[in-house]
Amino acid sequence: MGHTSITRRYRFCAAHRLHTDHLSPEENWAAFGKCNNPNGHGHNYVVLVTVAGSRGRTRGQALDLVELDRIVTERIVTRFDHHDLNQDPGFANQTTTGENLVLLIWDLLAPQLPAGQLQKVGVIETRDNYFEYSGAGKPTIQTTGGPHG
Ligand code: NI
Repeated sequence: MGHTSITRRYRFCAAHRLHTDHLSPEENWAAFGKCNNPNGHGHNYVVLVTVAGSRGRTRGQALDLVELDRIVTERIVTRFDHHDLNQDPGFANQTTTGENLVLLIWDLLAPQLPAGQLQKVGVIETRDNYFEYSGAGKPTIQTTGGPHG
């Protein structure tokens, strides 16, 4: 028997700057280009949260979506919306790339949900950049064009 999943879409707007203190200003510029602009820039991020669905037709929803909305709003949307990602404690020691953001969102959500419920987190950063993580290994990156499309 296959399984179903449910994906909910959330949004937040946030600023960031791709920069690491481990590199010189010149190396930062070489690595991140215009995304290293000292004044930063913003994105309208879209977060796709996928949770396990019901196992069979008669079992109903595995996870209350109202509860999921509450958790994601509290832990993710409120935390990041209209904030500077570079100031977030979750990015104290890492660059605010989409890869790191999708991993951070996974780590913030997974402990809040029943074991095994979180299936996938996706982050749309720009029209052409999508980051995805399913809980094991490295995140998947789909991109066309430059770092920010
Ligand atoms: Ni950016």
